[in-house]
Amino acid sequence: MSKIAVLGATGTIGSRVVREALDRGHQVTAVVRDPAKVSQSHPNLTVTTGDALDPASVAAAAAGQDVLVSAVGGGDGPGHRSTIEPSARALVAALRTLGADAPRLLAVGGAGSLRTADGRQVWDAPGLPEWLLQIMHAHGDALNYYRTVTDVRWTNLSPAGLIEPGERTGGYRTALEDLVVAADGTSRITAEDYALALIDEVEQPQHDGRRFTVGY
Ligand SMILES: NC(=O)c1ccc[n+]([C@@H]2O[C@H](COP(=O)([O-])OP(=O)(O)OC[C@H]3O[C@@H](n4cnc5c(N)ncnc54)[C@H](OP(=O)(O)O)[C@@H]3O)[C@@H](O)[C@H]2O)c1
Repeated sequence: MSKIAVLGATGTIGSRVVREALDRGHQVTAVVRDPAKVSQSHPNLTVTTGDALDPASVAAAAAGQDVLVSAVGGGDGPGHRSTIEPSARALVAALRTLGADAPRLLAVGGAGSLRTADGRQVWDAPGLPEWLLQIMHAHGDALNYYRTVTDVRWTNLSPAGLIEPGERTGGYRTALEDLVVAADGTSRITAEDYALALIDEVEQPQHDGRRFTVGY
């Protein structure tokens, strides 16, 4: 059993991470800006307040935890710009204050920076709308920042090209830098299977200091 704090616990992905962790017997703390938004309840679920952009509140919530998951999002493009990379810096700053006792950080990333079959990156595809490019590059900037961090244990998990609520199939494939593409040419994962892969990484760390990605 691990103690897992989850930022973004009210979100599409974060709520599934909370559910998966609880179903597997972990002790979960949802770290949220507004506790009234947490709809899940479980004997092993605690709710506390915290803001991913405020290192002091994150440090308070992360103290004593084994793993800190960040599943925060920024809504639209500008929202991602002002949330994703700034929160990466705030989370690392918070964990640094906890020294050797700091939990590992497992952050939800983006697919935009993944490599495609033609050797380019997802965000190089022609015709992508500006709002989506902003979201992709917000995650790219955060990943670039994480890659400078050597004194905090971090892992960044990029979804497949498409992630949406669906079935927990129990199956997925991983890669490091390459977009995972299925035989039918699609790159997708349900949020349920993404959460499964994330909690697998919590239980059996295999990507310390690295980004990896999951898809079918
Ligand atoms: N294919 C892809 O690459 C792909 C696809 C989908 C999503 N993603 C990424 O996955 C992440 C999660 O996506 P999602 O769809 O689950 O997002 P979502 O449903 O919009 O949820 C976002 C969560 O972040 C929380 N949050 C935002 N700012 C915060 C802050 N300063 N402090 C604490 N919590 C904060 C929100 O809390 P409140 O309830 O307080 O607002 C909410 O719980 C995003 O970063 C998104 O870009 C990637």
